[in-house]
Amino acid sequence: MHSNSEAEEIETGLVKPVEAWSPGAMTLPGRYYVDPGLFRAEQERIFLRHWLCPGRKAQIPAAGDFFLREADTESVIVVRGEDGAVRAFHNLCRHRGTRICGDAAGRFSGAIRCPYHAWTYGVDGRLLAASSMAGVNGFDRADYPLLPVAVAEWEGFALLSLAERPEPFDQPGFDPQNAVGFWDRTNREDWDICERSQLGVASRAYRPGPYSPREGISAAFDRCYLQELAE
Ligand code: FES
Repeated sequence: MHSNSEAEEIETGLVKPVEAWSPGAMTLPGRYYVDPGLFRAEQERIFLRHWLCPGRKAQIPAAGDFFLREADTESVIVVRGEDGAVRAFHNLCRHRGTRICGDAAGRFSGAIRCPYHAWTYGVDGRLLAASSMAGVNGFDRADYPLLPVAVAEWEGFALLSLAERPEPFDQPGFDPQNAVGFWDRTNREDWDICERSQLGVASRAYRPGPYSPREGISAAFDRCYLQELAE
């Protein structure tokens, strides 16, 4: 945990906690932590809409290296191409929709092969071979690549968006460095407290409590979260 003197130094580069706090700000009601309907809304309106950070590019250093990431019902293959580019694809076959890859991570040896009828894709997503489709009128392999998922790269991270029309990742003039450093340290130090907090708010006895002026960022985060869910 941070000492008071450390907390006083905290600045995100965007807004100071004390500036984000407003008198009377309360923590969220308990249902926001345990209600299945709100969990569903979170998936739809936050995790399937905004950029996600599934991992680092260094996890897949060589051509064909991949890892999977799950979000709600979606499974995504993040893979390094022969050209060195990091791409992401929905983990489903264009033939009958079978989930192609079941390993959490590994290396494709030049191609991604569906276990059902052996449709075979390049690590760039192109459909290279489609068994038993020869002679099918109008069938063109070029029409059935793996479905791409938007990817962005930042500071060694690979980020992805499952939105149909992803919001721009780059925000001109945005410098999150202070916030990144702060939250990285906070997450490392506060993991035990986060787990205990989750256990407490799941209790029927939990009631919202007042935020202090030092917790303005948390209060602002709650406001942003509620705005997203209200849409
Ligand atoms: S479902 Fe993948 S090849 Fe048929």
